[in-house]
Amino acid sequence: MPRQLTGFKPTGPLQLGNYFGAIAPLARRRRDADTTAMIVDLHALTVEHDPAGLRRRTLEIAALLLAAGVGEDTDRLLVQSHVPEHTELHYLLESAASYGEAHRMIQFKQKAGSARERTRLSLLTYPVLMAADILLHDTDEVPVGADQSQHVELARRMAYRFNRRYGDTFTIPAPVNPPVAARIMDLADPNRKMDKTNQSEAGVLYLLDPPGVLRRKINRATTDSDGEVRYDPERKPGVSNLLEILAACVDGDPRRLASQFDSYAPLKQAVGDAVVDRLAPLQRRHAELAARPEKVLAALRAGASHARQRAADTVARARSAVGLLIDDAPPTG
Ligand code: TRP
Repeated sequence: MPRQLTGFKPTGPLQLGNYFGAIAPLARRRRDADTTAMIVDLHALTVEHDPAGLRRRTLEIAALLLAAGVGEDTDRLLVQSHVPEHTELHYLLESAASYGEAHRMIQFKQKAGSARERTRLSLLTYPVLMAADILLHDTDEVPVGADQSQHVELARRMAYRFNRRYGDTFTIPAPVNPPVAARIMDLADPNRKMDKTNQSEAGVLYLLDPPGVLRRKINRATTDSDGEVRYDPERKPGVSNLLEILAACVDGDPRRLASQFDSYAPLKQAVGDAVVDRLAPLQRRHAELAARPEKVLAALRAGASHARQRAADTVARARSAVGLLIDDAPPTG
């Protein structure tokens, strides 16, 4: 069975696109695949951040993932920094990657822009840490969107190169494009993906938005002036996005759903109902867990301890392969 790894970066509140793109498939897969979900808090340090906010967000995402059924009684949900082998392997891999490779990454260029002097060094080495995540857990497959496939390709190349140079050490990973359940776009700007880091929050449906806020954002969604409810992402991106969201929530087909509406107001009403209904159980379970953070911490502890044996083995292989002196005697004193 291919081993899979998914990472969630705690840089903003999770939104509906994360839910249908990553969380729901992960929750569905958990029984029949070896999947690990990791909250990559170290990656959140690569850009300007607020320490208290990072800690709060990490716990919130953990509670939300558990509420969605990810990591629930499987010990497969963990926080990256709870397994210090990530950073150890990161360093060993830095010595197997080049500056040129790192600075050619599209995401680095986009995020660093022209502000190179002030850019954190960890933003440059971000993909090396991501490679460490992937290789540490002997991952076969990494389900990622297009924006991350370059990073997974780099991890694959590094594993291959390392194995050739130093002997068989790492499992060679491959990116997999998860079947797109839904292409959910920003409600205010339906030509861009719904994303937690979008500039304006008006078009982003956060998983913990109260029902009234969800409905208001949906009611204000950008449409067009022709008044016809039809699924046509090219010409009618706003309306098609609403249909796409509705279809994802009710497991339907956006084209077929279109015929049920003859104007935009009832469509928006139906989308509002569907989103609120779909998120209600998640929000309820999240509230229960948020009231008992010790339960969330216990699940994360179990996840980290489950991952550590494998992590220790992988790092030991890598240390030995690159020529570090190994002392096998048990520690004394
Ligand atoms: N870079 C990924 C993102 O921004 C997050 C990530 C970090 C990740 N480590 C990973 C994803 C390992 C998959 C596997 O979405």
